[in-house]
Order: sequence, then structure tokens, then C-alpha cells
Amino acid sequence: MRLETERLYFRHWTLEDKDALFAMAKDPDIGYRCGWPAHKSVEDSINTINTVFTGKENYAICLKSTDEPIGCIDLMFNQKKDDECELGYWLGREYWGQGIMPEACRELIRHAFEDLKVSKVWCAYYEGNEQSKRVQEKLGFVFQERKENVKVALLNEVRNDYVNLLTREDWEKK
Ligand SMILES: CC(C)(COP(=O)(O)OP(=O)(O)OC[C@H]1O[C@@H](n2cnc3c(N)ncnc32)[C@H](O)[C@@H]1OP(=O)(O)O)[C@@H](O)C(=O)NCCC(=O)NCCS
Repeated sequence: MRLETERLYFRHWTLEDKDALFAMAKDPDIGYRCGWPAHKSVEDSINTINTVFTGKENYAICLKSTDEPIGCIDLMFNQKKDDECELGYWLGREYWGQGIMPEACRELIRHAFEDLKVSKVWCAYYEGNEQSKRVQEKLGFVFQERKENVKVALLNEVRNDYVNLLTREDWEKK
């Protein structure tokens, strides 16, 4: 099954993407907002492809016009509640501000509800990440909770986390 939109398609990451990943993930403003340190070398990117980008629903977002990966999108499942998942995403800086992530998320959310039959998709952002907040608003996510002093383990700091939810019912109404 091919997951695609007008401008994009998704596929799994491979080690051939290491240089493209490094070119994006070395930007400190991307990882910082997601809670991971910027990649310092291609070795970090290889390690990420081998150990982090391994989930069944973790994808490289590729531009149809170039076939290049331009970001990452992921559905993470909680083993205790397999009809719920959490959406995560980031995009290389040069692609920000073109509505690409809302377009990508709409397709992965459709996939979650229609193909994977989940009942709830969760999504969160750290306080201050107005761009991600806006993406979640545009997708119809509904605010649930502000979690204070959440540990960001990979960066060794604490932050406030805003947790949003899209239920199947809300998604069907849209
Ligand atoms: C969050 C992110 C995925 C948004 O993706 P995107 O495709 O740029 O989203 P949009 O084009 O819909 O832009 C969202 C909002 O960001 C703002 N924005 C757009 N381009 C911007 C730029 N270059 N600089 C600052 N803000 C910008 C706008 O307010 C826009 O809202 P609007 O459409 O109502 O005007 C992207 O900014 C990103 O990868 N950020 C770093 C990683 C990250 O934060 N991941 C999410 C962690 S929860």
C-alpha cells in the first residue's frame, strides 16, 4: 500500500538516506523542538536510521518532484493500548511554511483511522513551539492537557508539554 499525497509520498528510511538525513538533522532548531540533540556527524544519522527509524509506521517523507527525503513522520503505538497511537513529525528547515506537514499528517492520520483502525491519535508539542501548535490546530486536534516539568531525557532538561487528541469521531466529522 503506497501512502501518498499530491506533493509527497512516504517510504521507510534506508542507510542510503544517511547524508540527506544529516544535512537536515544537524540543524539544532529541528531536534531541539522534538527533544533530541542535533546530529554532529553522519555517524549520528546512521545510528538514528538503525535504531530510531525502525518502527513499522515510521517513514521518510519524500518529495515526488525530487524523490528526496525532506523530513520524518511517525505513528508510535503504546503496547497496552493498541487502538491508540501518537503522531510525531519534523521537516528539514528549507521546506517549512509550505503546508507540507499538514498535508503529510492528513494522509498518515487517514492511514491510522482507515487502515490501522485506531480510535484515537494523540499529538503533543513542547511549550513555545508555535509552528507545531499551528499544525495540530489545522488538523483538528483538541487540547487535552498541559503537563508540567516533563523530562526531556535526551537533552537533560524539563519542559512543559501540551497534549492534543484527535478522536475517530472528530476526524469523521471533518
Ligand atoms: C512544525 C513543522 C513540522 C511545521 O511544518 P510546516 O510544513 O512548516 O507547517 P506549515 O507550513 O503548516 O506552517 C505552520 C505554521 O508555522 C508558521 N511558519 C511557517 N513558516 C515559518 C517559518 N519559516 N518560520 C517560522 N514560522 C513559520 C506559520 O504560522 C504557519 O501557520 P499558518 O499556516 O497558519 O500561517 C516544522 O516547522 C518543523 O519541522 N519544525 C521543527 C521540528 C518540530 O517542531 N517538530 C514537531 C515537534 S512537536
